[in-house]
Amino acid sequence: MLPPPPVAGTNTIQPLATVDMMRDEGRRQHNCVASFSVEAVEGRMAFYRVLGPERATASLVRERDSWRIGQIKTAANRPAKRTTWLAVQRWLADSPQVRTTLGKGPGHLQEAVMRDGSNASRWIAVLEDTTLGEGEMRVVFPLGMNIVVARVGGQVYAVSGACPHLGCPLFTGRLAGGVLTCPCHDWRFDVRTGEFLDAPELGLTKFPVKTDAGRLLVGLDWREIP
Ligand code: FES
Repeated sequence: MLPPPPVAGTNTIQPLATVDMMRDEGRRQHNCVASFSVEAVEGRMAFYRVLGPERATASLVRERDSWRIGQIKTAANRPAKRTTWLAVQRWLADSPQVRTTLGKGPGHLQEAVMRDGSNASRWIAVLEDTTLGEGEMRVVFPLGMNIVVARVGGQVYAVSGACPHLGCPLFTGRLAGGVLTCPCHDWRFDVRTGEFLDAPELGLTKFPVKTDAGRLLVGLDWREIP
């Protein structure tokens, strides 16, 4: 038996509640989900059957007192579309279970959800301002979203942290002169704008950043995410 799922399912995102369900999902989708049964039993990962906008299998990974999206794979371990990632991200962000577990870890910066008086964005504290040096980048997970924050020319920028090519984690890439290079196939992005340098019509989602009481906050507004 597995621990209770950390986030309740929906009609289209359903928890795999037992090891048998994980094995069945692996057989149906020809993927490796069943090989993570130890992690699932120990409560370090949780798995979900995704029925829309495409059929996929999603994992959540426990990080201290919160959860982030691990992988989302379609049949035969193929990468999921961006629209599927966004659907799963929205589900996770809207989950009351995730909101109530954010920021409780000892020594971990509290992720305070704030309201900005001028718009409907939710501002999430992600880092102490002084911990991000010039030319450095960090990955943060406000409300479960994978976001890279970087300081370039004294300004801090925040962009989506999964490469739009095949989803590699951009924080493991290189940052030089404001250009973030994906570690997997060297796609290059301007971290200040999110633009993909070889095809400007593609790119990363850019998020607003501000400081408050020595903390860096990232602004999220789900209605504006394409
Ligand atoms: S996954 Fe980033 S360039 Fe291929």
